[in-house]
Amino acid sequence: MIKVRVPATTANFGAGFDCLGMAISLYNYVYMDWSDRLLIKSLDGTRIPTNNLNLVYKSAEYLFKLSGKKDFKSLKILQKNNVPKARGLGSSSCCIVAGLFGANALLGSVFKKKELLNIATKLEGHPDNVAPCMFGGFVVSSVENEKVFYVRNNVSYNLKFVFFIPNFKLSTEKSRKILKDKIDLKDAVYNISRSSLLVSSILKGKFSNLEVSTKDKLHQDYRLKYIENGKEIFDISYKLGAYGVFLSGAGPSIVAIYDRSNISFEKEASLKLKEKGIVNFSISKLDVDKGGVVAQIT
Ligand code: HSE
Repeated sequence: MIKVRVPATTANFGAGFDCLGMAISLYNYVYMDWSDRLLIKSLDGTRIPTNNLNLVYKSAEYLFKLSGKKDFKSLKILQKNNVPKARGLGSSSCCIVAGLFGANALLGSVFKKKELLNIATKLEGHPDNVAPCMFGGFVVSSVENEKVFYVRNNVSYNLKFVFFIPNFKLSTEKSRKILKDKIDLKDAVYNISRSSLLVSSILKGKFSNLEVSTKDKLHQDYRLKYIENGKEIFDISYKLGAYGVFLSGAGPSIVAIYDRSNISFEKEASLKLKEKGIVNFSISKLDVDKGGVVAQIT
């Protein structure tokens, strides 16, 4: 049997729409083995599809077909899900990456990691969650002719991340439909400049640039309209000294980046939510996952 551990991810960092992402210390586990008939089970009571529409299964099946494997019958899949669905924490990327890595391990690792990245990106539609899910750290990625070009970076120990995770869902599908098809040149420049500034500021430790560089004109404001108390959480985080605040992926979770020396940030944020009667969000302090997906034989 193959055991796969996949990290959650946060994407976009504001202006880096569809190209920036980071892996975080919250994990799903998938156990996979050959089987004569399809058997999918949730190990923790989370509701998951148990038929061939299950995304872990679909991704694995896709890889078997691509590999030309002719004697594939079916799979046994056991899933332990800690990453909440439709919260902007890369849960679908977790399924895709776990399915591909589990399948590849069963096949004897016939596909290289880079090939799996291209396939995962094709299945997900964009690379900003699947790339950090695979490589860990903070990943910048770009797609050209179905091939992903990427750089994986470490994140300074001085940066800490608090995730405001709501008790309601916002599907990526819906969250993408509310965006504009066309954008103004000045908005494109606004985002390109901020996304570039954000990457170099994170890498060079110029954290005072993060407030400006996490601002965005392509998606955040449109999406925030659907997130009750979202704007308040941005304001609370900045008042408590956050360097930058952004919508995690397509939302509705929100991430605050702050300095390691700001030791009371998490506690104070929690108190502020209570004080303001914001009960639809909970708070989790999460670290950067450095290694990405791990698949091993058990
Ligand atoms: N970049 C994606 C988006 C992430 O913002 O829609 C969510 O999958």
